[in-house]
Amino acid sequence: MDGQSANDLSHVIDADRAHVWHHLIQHKPFETGEPRIIVEGKGLRVWDQHGKEHLDAVAGGVWTVNVGYGRESIANAVRDQIMKMNFFGGTVGTIPGALFAEKLIEKMPGMSRVYYANSGSEANEKGFKMVRQIAHKRYGGKKHKILYRDRDYHGSTIASMSAGGQDERNAQYGPFTPGFVRVPHCMEYRKHEQDGAPVENYGEWAANQIEEIILREGPDTVGALCLEPVTAGGGVITPPEGYWPRVQEICKKYDILLHIDEVVCGVGRTGEWFGYQHYGIQPDIVTMAKGVASGYAAISICVTTEAVFDMFKDNADDPLNYFRDISTFGGCTSGPTAALENMRIIEDEGLLANTTAMGARLVANLNALAEKHKVIGDVRGKGLFCGAELVADRDSKDPVHEKLAAAVVADCMQQGVIIGATNRSVPGKNNTLCFSPPLIATADDIDEITTAVDGALTRVFG
Ligand SMILES: Cc1ncc(COP(=O)(O)O)c(C=O)c1O
Repeated sequence: MDGQSANDLSHVIDADRAHVWHHLIQHKPFETGEPRIIVEGKGLRVWDQHGKEHLDAVAGGVWTVNVGYGRESIANAVRDQIMKMNFFGGTVGTIPGALFAEKLIEKMPGMSRVYYANSGSEANEKGFKMVRQIAHKRYGGKKHKILYRDRDYHGSTIASMSAGGQDERNAQYGPFTPGFVRVPHCMEYRKHEQDGAPVENYGEWAANQIEEIILREGPDTVGALCLEPVTAGGGVITPPEGYWPRVQEICKKYDILLHIDEVVCGVGRTGEWFGYQHYGIQPDIVTMAKGVASGYAAISICVTTEAVFDMFKDNADDPLNYFRDISTFGGCTSGPTAALENMRIIEDEGLLANTTAMGARLVANLNALAEKHKVIGDVRGKGLFCGAELVADRDSKDPVHEKLAAAVVADCMQQGVIIGATNRSVPGKNNTLCFSPPLIATADDIDEITTAVDGALTRVFG
């Protein structure tokens, strides 16, 4: 590791322990132990305060650093742009804002308009606000309900949590925003927990469950359906065969907008530019964040079709007719500048193809581990977005206790490989190991990850 020695960082560690409130973590252990400080990153590797090297198999912990660490070309592009023009509120345009929008829409046939914001939660809220406003403008406020799915996650704000299908994440933060309605998950591995799930055509059945909810609520009250293309924190759930085409059909039938949350899958993670593009569907609203600029700048985006956009300019005489929304930092030029360079890197380095190839290797390696370790009940994945669900018993599929999944993660960390596990997500089901290395991963990197998991499973489960 270049830079400071461990001694130089003692003040940083003290300052962190005294003043930083970390995300998603209980702080009691820091009263006696140290918080982890990540000091430096290069490629897939990061170094902590002790100079210990780690292979980061979760792209910054939360599926974000798609092009890897230490990208000088992104830093240079951002530096040049912010010296020229760093910010202007989004009522006006900027050069990188216009150029990235054009480039992005080239990758999203059928989509048309790009709305800039800062976080995944915020981008989703933009989508929800559009749906609500359309309901008021077109349907006297009636068609305002937004359907979301069990196990999906759309963000940390109160409104995005109102669309949150992870009960442990949501616990103690209610009451939530009215008008959000839950539909069942589509996780084939756990279909035995769903009343009436058939042995065959599960995908179609799971989609039909959404139709039943629409009919129960009244189609004239439902404005949108918001889904992750592949559920992330809810257990890395790849959709079953036949699911998406039926979902699209149902949305068309009842004039319901399809909002796809690509915050995790978007910009390459699954081996296509967008997760939904694997399934031949055409959304009305697409949101994205994490991988858009690989964490080199804060940027999120809500993309719509021209038809959705048109609904906000059809009557210029009405002072309330347009989308009366702003995101101050949506006007930062660092976001689209970093995003443009991020996209160039993905194209020039062939990272979509690499993601598909390395994702296949990761799944194959995990399946090979499943032959050896009975505790792996299911392996799921699309591109470099994979999960291995740990079960106490393969027949009953009873999940292992979350402490055991956490012990596997801790053992890998000890070995210098950072993996993840579903965390405070679905009660009793925080039992899926998560893998999402940067899209630059090589075959050796993938093998190093699964070798660490092999060792960890042997130590934790024998
Ligand atoms: C699918 C999905 N949507 C939305 C979000 C929220 O994004 P953010 O944390 O940037 O608000 C996340 C975050 O993990 C996510 O996984």
